[in-house]
Amino acid sequence: MRKTFVSYLRHVSTQAKIQELTAELKKHNYHYYVLANSTISDREFDMKLKELEMLENAFPQYADPNSPTQQVGGDITKSFNTVLHSTRMLSLGNTYNKEELLDFDTRVAKLIGGNAYQYTAELKFDGFAIALRYVAGKLYQAITRGDGTQGDDVTANVKTIRSIPHQLEGNYPPELEVRGEIFMHKAAFVKLNKTRAKNGEDLYKNPRNTAAGTIKLQDSAEVAKRPLDGFLYQLAEHGKDELDHWDSLQHMKKYGLPVNGATRLCDTIDDVWDFIQHWDTKRRGLSFEIDGVVIKVNSRLQQQEMGFTSKFPRWAMSYKFETERAESRLISISYQVGRTGAVTPVANLEPMQLLGTTVKRASLHNADFIADLDIRVGDRVFVEKGGEIIPKIVEVDASNRDSDSRPTQFTLACPECETLLQRPEGDAVFRCPNIRSCPPQVKGRIEHFIGRKAMDVSSLGEGKIDVLYQSGFVKRAADLYALDADKLLGLSKTIANEDTGDERLVSFKEKTVENIISGVLASKQVPFERVLFGLGIRFVGETVAKKLAFHFKNIDALIAANFETLNAVSEIGGVIAKSVIDYFSLPENREEIDQLKIAGLQFEVVEKKLASNVLDGAKIVVSGVFTRFSRNELKKLIEDNDGKNVSSISKATDFIVVGENMGPAKKDKAEKLGVKMITEDEFAGMLGLL
Ligand code: IVH
Repeated sequence: MRKTFVSYLRHVSTQAKIQELTAELKKHNYHYYVLANSTISDREFDMKLKELEMLENAFPQYADPNSPTQQVGGDITKSFNTVLHSTRMLSLGNTYNKEELLDFDTRVAKLIGGNAYQYTAELKFDGFAIALRYVAGKLYQAITRGDGTQGDDVTANVKTIRSIPHQLEGNYPPELEVRGEIFMHKAAFVKLNKTRAKNGEDLYKNPRNTAAGTIKLQDSAEVAKRPLDGFLYQLAEHGKDELDHWDSLQHMKKYGLPVNGATRLCDTIDDVWDFIQHWDTKRRGLSFEIDGVVIKVNSRLQQQEMGFTSKFPRWAMSYKFETERAESRLISISYQVGRTGAVTPVANLEPMQLLGTTVKRASLHNADFIADLDIRVGDRVFVEKGGEIIPKIVEVDASNRDSDSRPTQFTLACPECETLLQRPEGDAVFRCPNIRSCPPQVKGRIEHFIGRKAMDVSSLGEGKIDVLYQSGFVKRAADLYALDADKLLGLSKTIANEDTGDERLVSFKEKTVENIISGVLASKQVPFERVLFGLGIRFVGETVAKKLAFHFKNIDALIAANFETLNAVSEIGGVIAKSVIDYFSLPENREEIDQLKIAGLQFEVVEKKLASNVLDGAKIVVSGVFTRFSRNELKKLIEDNDGKNVSSISKATDFIVVGENMGPAKKDKAEKLGVKMITEDEFAGMLGLL
């Protein structure tokens, strides 16, 4: 009797466990494939998937027919055309250590039945899969993996990727399909995030998510500004199915397709293991991220004999590298207040080494993140470098907690001005509502106002703003235009860096003051759209500011606009419209604008005759000799389509139009900085001139 009751209980809890795991994995899948924003490490996901698979095998009566174990995953975005794949786009099984890898080799040997076999070992690029169809040598369609059966047609966006040929070379067949991976170089990712940080925009998590998000943008000109790259690793060529994998890679190279050079033909699993170990140590030196190695049985005939399980090929396997992870202790949580009043919790950790740097702090994102992981002061925590820039806490060890440990209570009051925080409905963050006088908000707005993309007063930086604020000279942007040089001279203060605690002296010498005054004066010429961006209205970034400025032409018309007129402007949604109205409804904001008008800032659009604004302010270098256009024609096209001509390549360059004979030094520099290079034809294509 007792025994059956126990087994009854076990069944109930197994069923609950299966349901719980199924729901959790579905949620992670949705984040990964639809939102392009993963909420769990691959390794943890695989562990959970394996656990679910085991439970389902033991208790098939409780398995959900749509269980994540039955799917490759994914979903399809609405706004692109959906296209059926020629054959299902499959994923791969994973191994995590030598033992699992040897198990795979044993299974292969058994299936091949004593015959000799070889493997190709390839890097496992950390991006997203793509299928490319070429018809008569021309790139005809590019399709994302989607749910494996059908994906999104992202051809226009893929065409902006320089390394993907629009036209094949050599003796290509009339029709062919290749598959591979699209990704973003580390340098390009860091550059993109730096720009976003400067503009006060949310940061992207890692190059993979950013690449996946980029290819789903509706605007190809925007995609062209974010350099993507790709490698192809699979060929489906009609009538060429007999080619071994290694040979098919050589064919792909001959067609001009990008195939990664670090591919090796291996006679034994030991050779594969050498390859894995080599790249596990060398991967940090690559300009792009890899998360493992893929091994494939080389012979096509043997591949065909081995076939597929319901989800994976039996002839291929991925080996996943361990992500760099370190253990530490959470000493305390501090809170930082941003320009918009958003309060971000930051973990102060016992210092530890992670990928060669000492880490003392990690972002805790927001209150939900802390609650979801139940992170408490005193906990042992595991930290990873997501995207290898900002470390993040990925796991908490709750087993060693003191008995008096209590869940973290998110701070109730602003750490800077002690005002009670608010969390507006539907908002993930707590905010300090003391917009007018909370110091980091006030200083943050002034810093934003003088920023490069707004008024561009480069002679004023964070430190100087801090001194001007603390001395009472500048309490808002308009005060900058009433500064008295004589009063500033001799001003000095010691400023501490929040992160390092390092102190430095900021002093206003004659030259400094001169530069500040002339910089402020020059900013009076900055066009209206940048002034509008500089005001720092929530949700009004650079692009939205331009849209609003060009639509309403002057500030008075914008102030007079109501919700309907704002919402009627293309790409201005309800959230932006409301934010604009809220901003102008505050008398102090309108009063500041009056002051800025008196100071002589631009509050009206000066019409430039543009052919289009496709290039949207992109900084472009023209280099080499051209056939379709002369250099001057190219430069004029850039100006006429709202781009900016710049003469030398730097991190700030968006892309380079490359002709024949580009200097090798320039090319090196461009490659090192991850600046995208496009041909004049591709450029003409962007402007719709082909
Ligand atoms: S072969 C049927 N080779 O990893 C086999 N995949 O975890 C198809 N990936 O879906 C895949 N580098 O998106 C293959 N050299 C490589 C790869 C690679 C990255 C990705 C691909 C695949 C996923 C499996």
